[in-house]
Amino acid sequence: MEKFVVSGGKPLVGEITVSGAKNAAVAILPATILAQGRCVIENLPDISDVAASVKILSDMGAQVRMIDASTLEIDTGHMFTTVAPEELSRRMRASYYFLGALLGRFGEGSVSMPGGCDLGPRPIDQHLKAFASLGASYNVDYGMINVSCDNLQGDHVFFDTVSVGATINAMLAAVRAEGTTILENVAKEPHIVDVANFLNTMGADVRGAGTDVIKIRGVSEMHGCTYSIIPDQIEAGSYMVAATITHGNLLIKNVIPKHLEPITAKLEQAGATIEEFDDSVRVCCIGDIEPLNIKTMPHPGFPTDMQPLMAVLLSVAKGTSIIKESIWDNRFRYVDELLRMGANIQVDGRTAVIEGVPKLAPAPVRAMDLRAGAALVVAALAADGVSEIDEISYIERGYENLVGKLRGVGADIKRIEKPDSVLKKAL
Ligand code: EPU
Repeated sequence: MEKFVVSGGKPLVGEITVSGAKNAAVAILPATILAQGRCVIENLPDISDVAASVKILSDMGAQVRMIDASTLEIDTGHMFTTVAPEELSRRMRASYYFLGALLGRFGEGSVSMPGGCDLGPRPIDQHLKAFASLGASYNVDYGMINVSCDNLQGDHVFFDTVSVGATINAMLAAVRAEGTTILENVAKEPHIVDVANFLNTMGADVRGAGTDVIKIRGVSEMHGCTYSIIPDQIEAGSYMVAATITHGNLLIKNVIPKHLEPITAKLEQAGATIEEFDDSVRVCCIGDIEPLNIKTMPHPGFPTDMQPLMAVLLSVAKGTSIIKESIWDNRFRYVDELLRMGANIQVDGRTAVIEGVPKLAPAPVRAMDLRAGAALVVAALAADGVSEIDEISYIERGYENLVGKLRGVGADIKRIEKPDSVLKKAL
């Protein structure tokens, strides 16, 4: 069985480099379908969610060539189907981005209906509402969701909920619609802006990404381009927490410090010292961890994907902290695993009350989802003694070379069974 074995209690010291953003990559890869030409995508993270997106593209007839470890050339000029392979698209939730991209380019597309997941119900009603506003019809047939439209027409869409996925999917379809589309109450995460920048580099006309309103003038043609994905905000934040909780000193490279501001502000309040440079941050911590109150919010609020990592940090704070989760219904399932490591946390619905303990204790634990898994690794790095983390395939969906990167800064962590490049295997 594959697992991480961590002998914790050592400060992390040195330099660590962040990879490209998962949640931008899983949207930008399907978006290459919109181009009539070759795209070269740089700074792709070597993680299993990216490998799955690449495999979906190549199974549908795209030609994919690896240029170097983090760069792929993708030619979607000769795709032979608008139906994403069922098995692969079912495994990865972000495969819903194929719907928007296929609809934009071919006027039709089908992917497996994304089910609920470990974070609670994950509806896609807002994605479908946007497609319908642009004139598309949809149905669900034998687990596949099918969308189609003869002639997409720009429209005014007001989202009922701020949704990252619906904002991106609406952009993917609207860039090729006739006329102007206005999207209101949109998400503003850094990867929304990254996807908009990618679309514009391919010849689209998308304005306002990063604000509450996005205006898109449809274009009849888009072309290939070379594009470099932004660094991963949550991977960077995870290493920032790891540096703080181990009382280490890490220079975290290949980051955009502006994207880290909500995380930096909370970590400084907790006692970390953070220095910002052009494309790196130095994080160190010598004193006690102070308790905090945190409420997760859409960007620029505190990101929900950092919530489990902050819960680990606050488990060893000097006092009582409160975390309110306002995005997902069911994002505290990892707490039972942290209790096994000696944490003192009570959960009531979407609120967790954390009484700090002096130290976490090592234990065998199980990753419940991607970020909860990363949080358990960080907990194990802080606990004196040997912990084992199971179900690491969740973690490998979103963290490139976690073991290698952590070992490079002094962690004693190993993976039972050596990984191969998941990107290479997909080709
Ligand atoms: N929602 C609806 N209807 C919709 C879409 C969303 O009600 O049609 C609700 C959701 O149930 C949730 C809220 O809106 O309560 C926000 O969901 P959103 O659509 O923003 O989430 P997502 O696009 O499915 C992305 C990330 C998640 C991250 C969330 C929130 C990707 C591939 N995933 O999910 O990342 O937690 O945004 O920031 O971009 C992760 O990386 O570990 C991860 C789970």
